[in-house]
Amino acid sequence: MKAKPGQFIILMIGEKGERIPLTISDFDARKGTVSCAFHEVGKTTKKLGLLNEGDYVETVTGPLGNPSEIKNYGKVLCVGGSVMIAPLLLQVKTMREAGNSVTTVLGARIKDVIMLEDEAKAMSEKVYVATDDGSKGYQGLDFLKDLLKKEKFDHCVAMGPVVMMKTVSEITKPYGIPTVVTLTPIMIDGMGMCGVCRVTVGGKMQFGCIDGPEFNGHKVDFDGLIQRQRIFLPEERLNSVLWEIGGCACGRQ
Ligand SMILES: Cc1cc2nc3c(=O)[nH]c(=O)nc-3n(C[C@H](O)[C@H](O)[C@H](O)COP(=O)(O)OP(=O)(O)OC[C@H]3O[C@@H](n4cnc5c(N)ncnc54)[C@H](O)[C@@H]3O)c2cc1C
Ligand code: FES
Repeated sequence: MKAKPGQFIILMIGEKGERIPLTISDFDARKGTVSCAFHEVGKTTKKLGLLNEGDYVETVTGPLGNPSEIKNYGKVLCVGGSVMIAPLLLQVKTMREAGNSVTTVLGARIKDVIMLEDEAKAMSEKVYVATDDGSKGYQGLDFLKDLLKKEKFDHCVAMGPVVMMKTVSEITKPYGIPTVVTLTPIMIDGMGMCGVCRVTVGGKMQFGCIDGPEFNGHKVDFDGLIQRQRIFLPEERLNSVLWEIGGCACGRQ
Protein backbone atom coordinates (compact mmCIF):
# COMPACT_ATOMS: atom_id res chain seq x y z
CA MET A 1 0.00 0.00 0.00
CA LYS A 2 1.64 3.20 -1.22
CA ALA A 3 -1.15 5.74 -0.59
CA LYS A 4 -0.18 9.09 0.92
CA PRO A 5 -2.24 12.14 1.96
CA GLY A 6 -3.10 14.37 -1.01
CA GLN A 7 -3.36 11.53 -3.53
CA PHE A 8 -6.45 10.24 -5.28
CA ILE A 9 -7.86 7.15 -6.95
CA ILE A 10 -9.90 6.75 -10.13
CA LEU A 11 -12.65 4.17 -10.01
CA MET A 12 -15.02 2.64 -12.50
CA ILE A 13 -18.22 1.14 -11.14
CA GLY A 14 -18.83 -1.14 -14.13
CA GLU A 15 -16.98 -2.25 -17.23
CA LYS A 16 -18.49 0.54 -19.36
CA GLY A 17 -18.84 3.14 -16.64
CA GLU A 18 -17.31 6.59 -16.35
CA ARG A 19 -13.95 6.99 -14.60
CA ILE A 20 -14.34 9.16 -11.51
CA PRO A 21 -11.52 10.55 -9.39
CA LEU A 22 -11.93 10.60 -5.59
CA THR A 23 -9.44 11.92 -3.04
CA ILE A 24 -8.05 9.48 -0.50
CA SER A 25 -9.40 10.43 2.92
CA ASP A 26 -7.83 7.56 4.82
CA PHE A 27 -5.89 4.35 4.26
CA ASP A 28 -4.83 1.27 6.14
CA ALA A 29 -1.49 -0.02 4.90
CA ARG A 30 -1.87 -3.29 6.86
CA LYS A 31 -5.26 -4.15 5.37
CA GLY A 32 -4.43 -2.62 1.98
CA THR A 33 -7.54 -0.41 2.00
CA VAL A 34 -8.28 3.22 1.12
CA SER A 35 -11.30 5.29 2.16
CA CYS A 36 -12.95 8.04 0.13
CA ALA A 37 -15.93 10.28 0.85
CA PHE A 38 -18.08 11.37 -2.06
CA HIS A 39 -20.93 13.67 -2.87
CA GLU A 40 -23.76 12.30 -5.04
CA VAL A 41 -23.76 14.92 -7.79
CA GLY A 42 -24.39 12.97 -11.01
CA LYS A 43 -25.00 9.58 -12.52
CA THR A 44 -21.83 7.78 -11.40
CA THR A 45 -21.70 9.09 -7.85
CA LYS A 46 -25.44 8.36 -7.47
CA LYS A 47 -24.81 4.79 -8.64
CA LEU A 48 -21.89 4.52 -6.22
CA GLY A 49 -24.20 5.62 -3.42
CA LEU A 50 -26.50 2.67 -4.16
CA LEU A 51 -23.80 0.07 -3.46
CA ASN A 52 -23.96 -1.85 -0.21
CA GLU A 53 -21.24 -3.17 2.07
CA GLY A 54 -19.64 -6.17 0.35
CA ASP A 55 -20.45 -4.97 -3.19
CA TYR A 56 -17.52 -4.20 -5.47
CA VAL A 57 -16.55 -1.79 -8.23
CA GLU A 58 -14.98 -2.87 -11.53
CA THR A 59 -11.62 -1.09 -11.22
CA VAL A 60 -9.70 1.13 -8.85
CA THR A 61 -6.56 2.84 -10.15
CA GLY A 62 -4.16 4.57 -7.81
CA PRO A 63 -2.77 6.05 -5.79
CA LEU A 64 -2.47 8.85 -8.37
CA GLY A 65 -1.13 12.39 -8.14
CA ASN A 66 1.60 13.81 -5.95
CA PRO A 67 1.43 13.40 -2.18
CA SER A 68 1.02 16.51 -0.01
CA GLU A 69 4.17 18.14 1.30
CA ILE A 70 3.79 17.44 4.99
CA LYS A 71 6.45 18.99 7.24
CA ASN A 72 6.77 21.09 10.34
CA TYR A 73 5.61 24.51 9.12
CA GLY A 74 4.65 25.76 12.60
CA LYS A 75 1.10 27.04 12.73
CA VAL A 76 -1.15 25.66 10.00
CA LEU A 77 -4.64 26.77 8.96
CA CYS A 78 -6.65 23.94 7.32
CA VAL A 79 -9.88 24.95 5.58
CA GLY A 80 -12.24 22.28 4.27
CA GLY A 81 -15.51 22.61 2.41
CA SER A 82 -18.32 20.18 1.80
CA VAL A 83 -17.31 16.53 1.27
CA MET A 84 -13.62 17.49 0.97
CA ILE A 85 -13.63 17.92 4.76
CA ALA A 86 -12.97 14.15 4.89
CA PRO A 87 -9.61 14.22 3.03
CA LEU A 88 -8.77 17.52 4.75
CA LEU A 89 -8.86 15.72 8.11
CA LEU A 90 -6.22 13.30 6.85
CA GLN A 91 -4.04 16.36 6.23
CA VAL A 92 -4.89 17.71 9.69
CA LYS A 93 -3.88 14.40 11.25
CA THR A 94 -0.57 14.16 9.40
CA MET A 95 0.21 17.86 9.91
CA ARG A 96 -0.25 17.30 13.66
CA GLU A 97 1.95 14.20 13.55
CA ALA A 98 4.64 16.35 11.88
CA GLY A 99 4.57 18.67 14.91
CA ASN A 100 2.35 21.48 13.60
CA SER A 101 -0.27 23.36 15.56
CA VAL A 102 -3.44 23.11 13.44
CA THR A 103 -6.50 25.36 13.33
CA THR A 104 -9.29 23.78 11.28
CA VAL A 105 -12.18 25.49 9.53
CA LEU A 106 -15.17 23.38 8.45
CA GLY A 107 -17.33 24.97 5.78
CA ALA A 108 -20.61 23.97 4.14
CA ARG A 109 -23.69 25.43 2.51
CA ILE A 110 -25.97 24.70 5.48
CA LYS A 111 -25.54 23.32 8.98
CA ASP A 112 -26.96 19.88 8.17
CA VAL A 113 -24.07 19.04 5.86
CA ILE A 114 -21.23 19.98 8.21
CA MET A 115 -19.41 16.70 8.66
CA LEU A 116 -16.84 15.18 11.01
CA GLU A 117 -16.95 18.06 13.49
CA ASP A 118 -16.14 15.87 16.52
CA GLU A 119 -13.24 14.23 14.67
CA ALA A 120 -11.90 17.67 13.67
CA LYS A 121 -12.11 18.86 17.29
CA ALA A 122 -10.22 15.79 18.49
CA MET A 123 -7.36 16.47 16.02
CA SER A 124 -7.08 20.27 15.97
CA GLU A 125 -5.96 23.00 18.36
CA LYS A 126 -9.04 25.04 17.39
CA VAL A 127 -12.05 24.41 15.13
CA TYR A 128 -14.26 27.05 13.49
CA VAL A 129 -17.46 26.30 11.60
CA ALA A 130 -18.82 28.45 8.76
CA THR A 131 -21.96 28.05 6.65
CA ASP A 132 -23.05 29.96 3.56
CA ASP A 133 -26.44 30.76 5.11
CA GLY A 134 -25.14 31.37 8.64
CA SER A 135 -27.26 28.50 10.03
CA LYS A 136 -24.24 27.34 12.05
CA GLY A 137 -21.06 29.16 13.06
CA TYR A 138 -19.91 32.12 11.00
CA GLN A 139 -21.72 33.20 7.84
CA GLY A 140 -19.26 32.77 4.99
CA LEU A 141 -15.49 32.94 5.25
CA ASP A 142 -15.10 36.68 5.92
CA PHE A 143 -14.35 35.91 9.57
CA LEU A 144 -10.98 34.58 8.38
CA LYS A 145 -9.92 38.17 7.62
CA ASP A 146 -10.32 39.04 11.32
CA LEU A 147 -8.68 35.79 12.39
CA LEU A 148 -5.60 36.51 10.26
CA LYS A 149 -5.34 40.03 11.70
CA LYS A 150 -5.16 38.50 15.20
CA GLU A 151 -3.17 35.31 14.62
CA LYS A 152 -0.10 34.53 12.56
CA PHE A 153 -0.19 31.36 10.42
CA ASP A 154 2.81 29.88 8.59
CA HIS A 155 0.94 27.70 6.10
CA CYS A 156 -2.58 27.13 4.82
CA VAL A 157 -4.28 24.12 3.20
CA ALA A 158 -7.66 24.54 1.48
CA MET A 159 -9.74 21.68 0.05
CA GLY A 160 -13.29 22.03 -1.19
CA PRO A 161 -15.39 23.72 -3.87
CA VAL A 162 -13.31 25.83 -6.27
CA VAL A 163 -15.05 29.05 -5.23
CA MET A 164 -14.20 28.35 -1.60
CA MET A 165 -10.52 27.67 -2.39
CA LYS A 166 -10.41 30.88 -4.45
CA THR A 167 -11.83 32.89 -1.52
CA VAL A 168 -9.38 31.38 0.97
CA SER A 169 -6.44 32.09 -1.37
CA GLU A 170 -7.55 35.72 -1.79
CA ILE A 171 -7.80 36.13 1.99
CA THR A 172 -4.36 34.60 2.77
CA LYS A 173 -2.50 36.35 -0.08
CA PRO A 174 -2.11 39.80 1.54
CA TYR A 175 -0.61 38.08 4.60
CA GLY A 176 1.87 36.12 2.48
CA ILE A 177 0.69 32.80 3.93
CA PRO A 178 1.68 30.00 1.50
CA THR A 179 -1.64 28.39 0.53
CA VAL A 180 -1.99 24.94 -0.99
CA VAL A 181 -5.22 24.10 -2.80
CA THR A 182 -6.40 20.76 -4.21
CA LEU A 183 -7.70 21.21 -7.75
CA THR A 184 -10.40 18.92 -9.14
CA PRO A 185 -10.52 19.54 -12.90
CA ILE A 186 -12.30 17.00 -15.07
CA MET A 187 -9.99 14.00 -15.46
CA ILE A 188 -10.03 10.93 -17.67
CA ASP A 189 -6.87 8.82 -17.44
CA GLY A 190 -5.30 10.59 -14.41
CA MET A 191 -1.83 9.78 -15.77
CA GLY A 192 -0.89 12.76 -17.94
CA MET A 193 -1.99 11.31 -21.28
CA CYS A 194 -5.36 12.86 -22.25
CA GLY A 195 -4.73 16.52 -21.33
CA VAL A 196 -8.32 17.05 -20.16
CA CYS A 197 -7.25 18.15 -16.69
CA ARG A 198 -5.36 21.25 -17.92
CA VAL A 199 -5.21 24.11 -15.39
CA THR A 200 -3.33 27.39 -15.53
CA VAL A 201 -1.00 28.07 -12.62
CA GLY A 202 1.31 31.08 -12.60
CA GLY A 203 0.47 31.66 -16.28
CA LYS A 204 1.70 28.17 -17.23
CA MET A 205 -0.38 25.19 -18.31
CA GLN A 206 -0.22 22.32 -15.85
CA PHE A 207 -1.91 18.93 -15.70
CA GLY A 208 -4.02 18.52 -12.56
CA CYS A 209 -3.31 14.79 -12.39
CA ILE A 210 0.48 14.60 -12.69
CA ASP A 211 1.60 18.11 -11.72
CA GLY A 212 -0.96 18.30 -8.88
CA PRO A 213 -3.57 17.86 -7.63
CA GLU A 214 -2.13 20.36 -5.10
CA PHE A 215 -1.03 23.78 -6.34
CA ASN A 216 -0.07 27.21 -5.01
CA GLY A 217 -3.48 28.86 -4.49
CA HIS A 218 -2.01 32.33 -5.05
CA LYS A 219 -1.09 31.41 -8.63
CA VAL A 220 -4.11 29.38 -9.79
CA ASP A 221 -6.45 30.73 -12.47
CA PHE A 222 -9.61 29.71 -10.59
CA ASP A 223 -12.00 31.36 -13.05
CA GLY A 224 -10.54 29.33 -15.94
CA LEU A 225 -10.91 26.17 -13.88
CA ILE A 226 -14.56 26.95 -13.06
CA GLN A 227 -15.27 27.42 -16.79
CA ARG A 228 -13.58 24.13 -17.74
CA GLN A 229 -15.43 22.20 -15.03
CA ARG A 230 -18.71 23.27 -16.66
CA ILE A 231 -17.86 22.16 -20.21
CA PHE A 232 -20.00 19.01 -20.07
CA LEU A 233 -22.72 20.32 -17.77
CA PRO A 234 -25.67 19.88 -20.21
CA GLU A 235 -24.61 16.29 -21.07
CA GLU A 236 -23.99 15.47 -17.38
CA ARG A 237 -27.42 16.77 -16.36
CA LEU A 238 -29.11 14.88 -19.19
CA ASN A 239 -27.24 11.66 -18.33
CA SER A 240 -28.21 11.93 -14.68
CA VAL A 241 -31.90 12.52 -15.47
CA LEU A 242 -32.00 9.79 -18.13
CA TRP A 243 -30.34 7.32 -15.77
CA GLU A 244 -32.87 8.12 -13.06
CA ILE A 245 -35.70 7.38 -15.48
CA GLY A 246 -33.99 4.26 -16.84
CA GLY A 247 -31.90 5.28 -19.89
CA CYS A 248 -28.56 6.93 -20.68
CA ALA A 249 -27.60 9.59 -23.27
CA CYS A 250 -24.16 8.08 -23.86
CA GLY A 251 -25.45 4.56 -24.40
CA ARG A 252 -23.66 3.31 -21.26
CA GLN A 253 -25.69 1.99 -18.37
C1 LIG B 1 -8.42 14.82 -8.21
C2 LIG B 1 -9.90 14.84 -7.91
C3 LIG B 1 -10.32 14.45 -6.66
C4 LIG B 1 -11.70 14.45 -6.37
N1 LIG B 1 -12.07 14.06 -5.11
C5 LIG B 1 -13.38 13.98 -4.81
C6 LIG B 1 -13.80 13.50 -3.53
O1 LIG B 1 -13.00 13.11 -2.68
N2 LIG B 1 -15.14 13.44 -3.28
C7 LIG B 1 -16.07 13.84 -4.22
O2 LIG B 1 -17.27 13.77 -3.91
N3 LIG B 1 -15.70 14.31 -5.42
C8 LIG B 1 -14.39 14.37 -5.76
N4 LIG B 1 -14.00 14.80 -7.01
C9 LIG B 1 -15.05 15.16 -7.98
C10 LIG B 1 -15.65 13.87 -8.55
O3 LIG B 1 -14.70 13.19 -9.34
C11 LIG B 1 -16.89 14.22 -9.41
O4 LIG B 1 -17.89 14.71 -8.53
C12 LIG B 1 -17.41 13.00 -10.14
O5 LIG B 1 -16.54 12.63 -11.18
C13 LIG B 1 -18.80 13.30 -10.70
O6 LIG B 1 -19.25 12.22 -11.49
P1 LIG B 1 -20.81 11.98 -11.71
O7 LIG B 1 -21.00 11.07 -12.85
O8 LIG B 1 -21.48 11.59 -10.44
O9 LIG B 1 -21.36 13.43 -12.04
P2 LIG B 1 -21.41 14.18 -13.46
O10 LIG B 1 -22.83 14.55 -13.67
O11 LIG B 1 -20.69 13.40 -14.53
O12 LIG B 1 -20.57 15.47 -13.13
C14 LIG B 1 -20.90 16.43 -12.11
C15 LIG B 1 -19.72 17.40 -11.97
O13 LIG B 1 -18.59 16.67 -11.47
C16 LIG B 1 -17.39 17.06 -12.16
N5 LIG B 1 -16.87 15.90 -12.89
C17 LIG B 1 -17.54 15.11 -13.74
N6 LIG B 1 -16.76 14.15 -14.26
C18 LIG B 1 -15.54 14.34 -13.73
C19 LIG B 1 -14.31 13.67 -13.86
N7 LIG B 1 -14.14 12.62 -14.66
N8 LIG B 1 -13.27 14.17 -13.19
C20 LIG B 1 -13.42 15.21 -12.34
N9 LIG B 1 -14.57 15.88 -12.17
C21 LIG B 1 -15.61 15.45 -12.85
C22 LIG B 1 -17.78 18.19 -13.10
O14 LIG B 1 -17.53 19.43 -12.47
C23 LIG B 1 -19.25 18.00 -13.30
O15 LIG B 1 -19.92 19.18 -13.63
C24 LIG B 1 -12.65 14.84 -7.35
C25 LIG B 1 -12.21 15.23 -8.62
C26 LIG B 1 -10.85 15.23 -8.90
C27 LIG B 1 -10.38 15.63 -10.25
S1 FES C 1 -6.48 13.34 -16.61
FE1 FES C 1 -5.60 12.99 -18.54
S2 FES C 1 -3.83 14.23 -18.51
FE2 FES C 1 -4.66 14.49 -16.54
